[in-house]
Amino acid sequence: MTRPLLGAIGVFDSGVGGLSVLRAIRAALPHEHLVYVADSGHAPYGDQSEDHITQRTLTVGNWLAEQGVKGITIACNTATVVAAKTLREQTHLPVVAIEPAIKPAVALTRSGVVGVLATRQTVQSAAVARLVALYAADKRILLQGCPGLVEQVERADLHSADTEHLLRQFITPLLEQGADTLVLGCTHYPFLRDTIQRLVGEGVTLIDPAEAVARELVRRLDESSGLSSATTPGSVRFFTSGDVAQAQAVMSHLWHEPLTVQALS
Ligand code: DGL
Repeated sequence: MTRPLLGAIGVFDSGVGGLSVLRAIRAALPHEHLVYVADSGHAPYGDQSEDHITQRTLTVGNWLAEQGVKGITIACNTATVVAAKTLREQTHLPVVAIEPAIKPAVALTRSGVVGVLATRQTVQSAAVARLVALYAADKRILLQGCPGLVEQVERADLHSADTEHLLRQFITPLLEQGADTLVLGCTHYPFLRDTIQRLVGEGVTLIDPAEAVARELVRRLDESSGLSSATTPGSVRFFTSGDVAQAQAVMSHLWHEPLTVQALS
């Protein structure tokens, strides 16, 4: 069997949101070959059962492993909190995973109130409850599920009145309760960052852990002697389980350059 992605780093999300993590990885590791899978045919994960999310995480993770990647990054908070443990148990590859940045938010808040914007599955997960118990026992953590936002980003509908209306609905109660720090706990939301910052004002800090995830990936690959010694730019290849033409249009828009998307075989 040929392994066309031998030695690349695999990155995946339920859809296009993980591109916000991929761009941080690209900046940190410009010489590595990267492969990105948008599981858009099965998005949003956040409104589906834990079994479904686990099964999709294993399917995409196994596909990446079969293609020969040297490491996997879960660029999806929902997949992490539901299924990262299971994926780690089932692969020998290093798995780096994004999760809501509650610890850094607790270090930054001055009001003692932190809002977490995330999918429904993420806010009700045991993993997030653990993070809150571990790092935020003396703070107020307001967990806000945001159904519908992932779909807006999947359509590249970043600036419409509908998107702004949804955002206001989720953010207003957090501000009213005194949140001065908001965690972007879903990798789709950094694409809405400008609108969110405008709505909350400059006094509220937004936290996106994508760069921390990229640094952790560098550390893990370095530890396993997995970093490339190449000095030429690495390639980036894109796959989707959804509609290829739609993915290509939306991902080119979000990636700020034309790109080719292939169907996940
Ligand atoms: N980007 C995913 C996350 O970080 C969105 C999950 C979904 O598809 O609902 O949670």
